[in-house]
Amino acid sequence: MAGQFITLEGGEGVGKTTNLNFIQELLEANDISVLVTREPGGTELAESIRQLLLDKEQEAISEQTELLMMFAARAQHIKHVIQPALEWGTWVLCDRFTDATYAYQGGGRNMDVTAINWLENFVQGELRPDLTLLLDAPTEIGIKRASHRGELDRFELEKMEFFERVRHAYLGIAEAQPDRVKVVDASVDLEAVQAQIKSIISPLLKG
Ligand code: TMP
Repeated sequence: MAGQFITLEGGEGVGKTTNLNFIQELLEANDISVLVTREPGGTELAESIRQLLLDKEQEAISEQTELLMMFAARAQHIKHVIQPALEWGTWVLCDRFTDATYAYQGGGRNMDVTAINWLENFVQGELRPDLTLLLDAPTEIGIKRASHRGELDRFELEKMEFFERVRHAYLGIAEAQPDRVKVVDASVDLEAVQAQIKSIISPLLKG
């Protein structure tokens, strides 16, 4: 049986890393073999592209370049990591995927969604996540948490309006695709966040 492809999404500082670990443990406790990965990144080349994308010290990256770099990294990641794992029957748990492109480049940067849609089809073919958990919290809460983590990267340095647009775009995706995208209220305490996650993941475990 092909593995399930689960993605975790959300704005800055919504607790993705902690909850990614939680989901991994939940799956492994049910004897599911899961590969945990991230975007941009997940292969040597894609991780190098990630470094370039997050680096704030270099020449300014145009919006088009940024979008193409996201998809270049993604193409590599899909071909060498995601697709083989799924075909092998391993589940894939990915920290961000193409919804992040719709949210950050489409929403945050106001880029043309038809271009993103074309690239999505070109790079992914039929591949789409089976399930996406969207960790959602008011923008101010997330930014405050992210700013306590240390030095900010090129995205984290964006203005509040940018992150408001990102959040709005994410919630729009969830509204348009409720079967795939489940919104988790990440503004509550960790235990309550993880209870929501557990109730979303549990039906998959039975299947
Ligand atoms: P991270 O904060 O989850 O490690 O992701 C790195 C940054 O990359 C984050 O600020 C969101 C951004 N990003 C995009 O802008 N578009 C994308 O398609 C992806 C996957 C990430």
